[in-house]
Amino acid sequence: MSIVKINVLTVPEEQREVLEKRFAARAGSVENSDGFEWFELLRPLEGTDQYLVYTRWADEASFQAWMEGSMRASHGGGGGEGGERPKPAATGSTLWSFEVVQQAAPKA
Ligand code: HEM
Repeated sequence: MSIVKINVLTVPEEQREVLEKRFAARAGSVENSDGFEWFELLRPLEGTDQYLVYTRWADEASFQAWMEGSMRASHGGGGGEGGERPKPAATGSTLWSFEVVQQAAPKA
């Protein structure tokens, strides 16, 4: 079954709007990748200041290929190349990896 990669972004309250606008502006940057299955940006309702960037992939290799390829484009060039990038809205990030062991969908 598929694998799930969740990027956990710590986002101060006052930066939420900036973060969401940046994601909206980059909509479309992952849909065409081989093995890509799903993306959701999850805004916390309570109890945490962490957004979850939920992505699901056919397999680990598909995710790694995206990370090494067009992920860089959707993240402004891949980091550390000088002062031109705007300051990140997120103050931290952590990558979580899961495999799907069971799933269900509503009956059609
Ligand atoms: C699990 C897969 C992903 C990983 C490992 C990842 C990695 C990261 C990291 C490390 C950051 C924080 C550093 C920075 O601001 O550049 C970030 C922020 C961001 N990512 Fe991703 N990302 C993932 C999925 C996605 C997807 C699918 C999209 C586009 C739809 C996306 C778009 C963005 C945007 C717009 C930011 C906001 C930068 C900010 O202002 O803080 N990311 N991502």
